[in-house]
Amino acid sequence: MALIHPPAHKVHARPLPKWRWLPQFFINPLSIYSDSAFETLYARSEAFGVRTLSINDPAGIKHVLLDNMANYERPVVLARLFRPAMGQGVFLAEGTEWRRQRRMLAPLFSPAAINDLIPHFQTAGEQMLSRLGQGGDVRLSEVFHRAALDAVLKALFSLKAEGHHADIPVMVRDYLGGAGRPNPMDGMARTEDDFGWAMESRKSFSRKWTAMVDSVITERRAAGPDQAHARGDLLDLLLAARDPQTGEGLSDAEIRDQCSTMLAAGFETTSRMLFWASYLLSLDPAEQGRLREEVVAFAPGRVTKMDDLAHWPRLRNVLLEALRFYPPAAYITRRAMGEDEIGGHRISAGTEVWISPFVLHRHRKFWDHPTAFMPDRFAGVNAPWATIPAYLPFGAGPRICIGASFALVEGQILLAHLLSRFTIAAVDDQPVLPVFRVTTVPGRDPMFRLQAT
Ligand code: HEM
Repeated sequence: MALIHPPAHKVHARPLPKWRWLPQFFINPLSIYSDSAFETLYARSEAFGVRTLSINDPAGIKHVLLDNMANYERPVVLARLFRPAMGQGVFLAEGTEWRRQRRMLAPLFSPAAINDLIPHFQTAGEQMLSRLGQGGDVRLSEVFHRAALDAVLKALFSLKAEGHHADIPVMVRDYLGGAGRPNPMDGMARTEDDFGWAMESRKSFSRKWTAMVDSVITERRAAGPDQAHARGDLLDLLLAARDPQTGEGLSDAEIRDQCSTMLAAGFETTSRMLFWASYLLSLDPAEQGRLREEVVAFAPGRVTKMDDLAHWPRLRNVLLEALRFYPPAAYITRRAMGEDEIGGHRISAGTEVWISPFVLHRHRKFWDHPTAFMPDRFAGVNAPWATIPAYLPFGAGPRICIGASFALVEGQILLAHLLSRFTIAAVDDQPVLPVFRVTTVPGRDPMFRLQAT
């Protein structure tokens, strides 16, 4: 059977000279790679006076994200980009403060807690279908943005994405496409506040975003606890959360920042995963047909617990393969606080370490037919993000994505709803290439034809 190779950026025969890769990096870092990037384990570079080591070696990655993680913190650029949306929440916390927050949040994402969120994901799927009506030509990126926002708002606050919440995707898109894009000042900044004038538009976004999250929390608190679901929503759990070591709860500001973090980290990433999975399925109608058989045999409405998802093994594998090809978090970066050695490479304090799931997932040493769409490569592999060393869509080590199960359960339920009602086909045959804009987004926003089955 002929393999399907989704469209990809040209891989250069030789590494681009610095005068070419540096400007291109700010346009789209995913388009700068040469053959050697997909064959070597380590590569050094330097820009704006910052030394960088790119790592594809699973042992080196484990060293940074697990064995010696105390020596590595999130670089300043991440705080500059994400603080406006995430405040002091767990994503940007470090050291003992991070450990405290992570301990308190862990129960929110336990399998039992995710099981309780399934009714919220079901409702988000049903509402997505009712908005789609009889189908037709649609922008799936918008459909999934809306549905994933709806799912996370329901999970957090038992709220709909209707009314004033419907402008949240627009806020996020505007931010990611504008003020939230990394720029050369971010490359040169040594602290979060350097080049303050270049941070004004981010601060203005932050004020609007924080006011929006505050208003949602106020609205939800006024409505009282979520009575409709067994253990309430995530806000109920956050209000009840106690540090198992000290017994202390979270302050209002902390609850606001954790909600902002979940909202920001949770819906853009998941909606991109769904977009790319649908794009891949439009390139492979036969696989799409097999998935439809699965979801027709076990209708999405019958899912009441995570175990039920075992009825859709191919659907899971397609999402995992979409995360391999187009990892929403294409880069995981750290800054060395002290000297170190990784795989024989000396690291001085201040060196930035770049781990790219995008590169690693297409690396020729680790994958058979890395450029082919082969969801079966994940068949029977339990939790591949934790068991395949070259597969890091959710990161690795203690800071691995806290929302991984949340995202995969939500993703399977939403995509199953869509596939049970429609066939998905591209309206044109122009390639869609990935571009990195904080997440991995499509370089153009194509229309898809949804035809009722
Ligand atoms: C397909 C969807 C998702 C992908 C690909 C993804 C990816 C990632 C990655 C790679 C990291 C680690 C970053 C690093 O180590 O620097 C991360 C961290 C995180 N993610 Fe996700 N994520 C997804 C969905 C979610 C969802 C749904 C939530 C919450 C509802 C979430 C919340 C977080 C948080 C809070 C962290 C920080 C954890 C910590 O530092 O302890 N993510 N995510």
